[in-house]
Amino acid sequence: MCTVTMWKCLAFMCALATTAHSDSCCVPTQFECSEGTMTGSADDDGNTALAQALIKFSFDGNGKRVYSVEQVIVGNQSDTYTILQLYNQGQQYVIHNGVCSRGSLETWGNKGCIPDTATVSGTYQLGYGQNIWITTYSWSIPSPTASVSLGVTDNCVPVVEIFTGQQEGTSFLALQGFQNITLGIKDPSVFVVPDICKHQSTSVPVPMYRRRRSTLF
Ligand SMILES: *[C@@H]1O[C@H](CO)[C@@H](O)[C@H](O)[C@H]1NC(C)=O
Ligand SMILES: *[C@@H]1O[C@H](CO)[C@@H](O)[C@H](O)[C@H]1NC(C)=O
Repeated sequence: MCTVTMWKCLAFMCALATTAHSDSCCVPTQFECSEGTMTGSADDDGNTALAQALIKFSFDGNGKRVYSVEQVIVGNQSDTYTILQLYNQGQQYVIHNGVCSRGSLETWGNKGCIPDTATVSGTYQLGYGQNIWITTYSWSIPSPTASVSLGVTDNCVPVVEIFTGQQEGTSFLALQGFQNITLGIKDPSVFVVPDICKHQSTSVPVPMYRRRRSTLF
């Protein structure tokens, strides 16, 4: 059901084509939400894959940290990843199947903010009789070579994102919807490094197109 909705949004956003420059739009400083994502990919040999993910995450722009629990479904296989990213320490921890891997992180940069290079590619109203207006921002990122289209409300709360591109001969399309957003962090202890992670060494960074969360965070 979620998927159908996102595809409708996609079709709708493609129908909109005006272009103007973005004012600074940043997501709320601290918030929590659910994110549903669907990623399809195909390589030059015609191998295709479809992955779904259900993500719950906590974003803390003050402490520069993000915590998420991501259930990833590929075919009939389901895996759960718990990901803790502490940008002030440059460290991320990924727990999967009872094993914790530690890796380094890029800098926080402009995380949570739509880049200045973005343009407004359309506006539309959600539902009927409710005054919910969505502005779609579009921009490109260099690595992987990809385009991002993100729909946000008037106060820059993310609603739907489309991420398409190519990496190492694999083309991908990711659709992401954001639900049940609440402001603040209910339980700050999610940002405490779990005991299981205290003695782990390094991990390989996750390629961007396999990242399941929004390109903004
Ligand atoms: C997953 O699907 C494959 C192919 O349909 C099947 O062979 C396999 O038994 C399934 N695995 C599980 C755990 O259901
Ligand atoms: C959103 O919140 C409602 C009400 O608490 C809940 O029933 C629903 O499962 C939530 N949806 C997601 C995707 O978390």
